Amino acid sequence: MKNKNGFNGSINPKSLNGVNGHDTNGHVFEKGTEPESNYKNNKKPVAFSTHEAILTHKQIKEPHLNELYQLNAGIYHPTKPLPLPAFEGMPVPIPGGFCEKSGTTVIFDEDVHLNLGKPEYVRLLGQNSFETRDASSKLGARADPVGPATKYRSNFAFSGPFQLLSDAGIEVFRRIIQNSKVDMAGDSKSSRGNKRIIRGLYYSSKWVRDLQNSPKLRKFFEQIAGEELVPHPSFSNSPQVNISYAGGTKGPVDHWHWDSVAYTGVTLLSDMSQMKGGNLEICTVNKEVALEKIARGEHVEKQTVMYEKPGKMILAQGSEVLHHVTPVESKQERISVIFAFAPANCFQPAKNVLDTMRKLDAKHNLGDYEYFRENSWQALNVLEYYLKNVKYTNDGKALGRKLQSIGELLTYHGLVLEGKINDSFQVMDEEAGKLVTDFSDLNGGDSKNVEHEYVHLN
Ligand SMILES: [Fe+2]
Repeated sequence: MKNKNGFNGSINPKSLNGVNGHDTNGHVFEKGTEPESNYKNNKKPVAFSTHEAILTHKQIKEPHLNELYQLNAGIYHPTKPLPLPAFEGMPVPIPGGFCEKSGTTVIFDEDVHLNLGKPEYVRLLGQNSFETRDASSKLGARADPVGPATKYRSNFAFSGPFQLLSDAGIEVFRRIIQNSKVDMAGDSKSSRGNKRIIRGLYYSSKWVRDLQNSPKLRKFFEQIAGEELVPHPSFSNSPQVNISYAGGTKGPVDHWHWDSVAYTGVTLLSDMSQMKGGNLEICTVNKEVALEKIARGEHVEKQTVMYEKPGKMILAQGSEVLHHVTPVESKQERISVIFAFAPANCFQPAKNVLDTMRKLDAKHNLGDYEYFRENSWQALNVLEYYLKNVKYTNDGKALGRKLQSIGELLTYHGLVLEGKINDSFQVMDEEAGKLVTDFSDLNGGDSKNVEHEYVHLN
């Protein structure tokens, strides 16, 4: 029986209260682990016998509470995007000079392929409501620059649609996707919702890579988000192309969730003017409050954000807002491109969730390697900052804490990689009306049974 919001009211509310291995942030702790490493009944710091890691329940639940970020709060140290890995042995091709996947030799040109237009408004994060800032407000339509007023975190929630690509840019991108359908297609079973996915274009298309590293674009994003952004170091995600099934979907294109990367920017490449459904809806209250309410079938304030026309982008701090995409009711194919970004500041978390990456990237199996690389890069930049900026002191205690904080963070990520900590989190299965942690089986209808056109050739 569905309630008025379309959700089954039979959800077990206990799943929100720290039983069954779930905490209130949706993290799941491994079953069958030793009592000392079982977090569900233990809010005190836990020492792993073999790793000497001191990790708290809170630190996993909220990355910002990690010692490294607490200790270095207030430091704004933007770093360069993560360099590409060695080409040899990579499961995806990394072409050099041209846009090979488009079948052309088009080189990205920010003056030709971009057509940047400012958003009319942005919404700012809040507990019970999201403030709207329009273009005529003091700062314009943008978040506060990171600083003491925002505790050095961006208060950006999401933007209204703004023009990103020129017509020429849209055309090149469509060709890249068309020519990437076969060898870059993700595992259809691993997507969350009714769609096919293409991943890994950051590696396989120099055009896409150059687009995301465009100085003009990065400056533009910084203005909106209040902090400098880099392409998310989990490159497989950036972008991910979602293609809804032609003929409509019975279930949502994407279920209620928040993202496993810090920032996301979504651009539609298909003409939506004739399309019914496929709307992005974003809850305008704290994400955890919103998820609990939706799971209980209660009303939640939300905003439908329209893309308006192809080539427009909606930028969001997707890790901090609960959102979903409604079912597509028309026969039109909906092609969306989801870019992922992270704070350039190495003292802010990129918020990668390895469990999600492993599921989404089941075809290329890059999740572990990317997780390893991005955390190595962060540590390298943190240590470089320490070397160049920490002034003389003989306070061994203070210096020791600085070193330990990066050590503990690396140990945490290492334990996640080893499978000793499960960092999965919950999403709403809108068809079943319950919260689930394994979204591999989410679809919302029988459309997954339809033979899909992307055949993996390698
Ligand atoms: Fe999302």
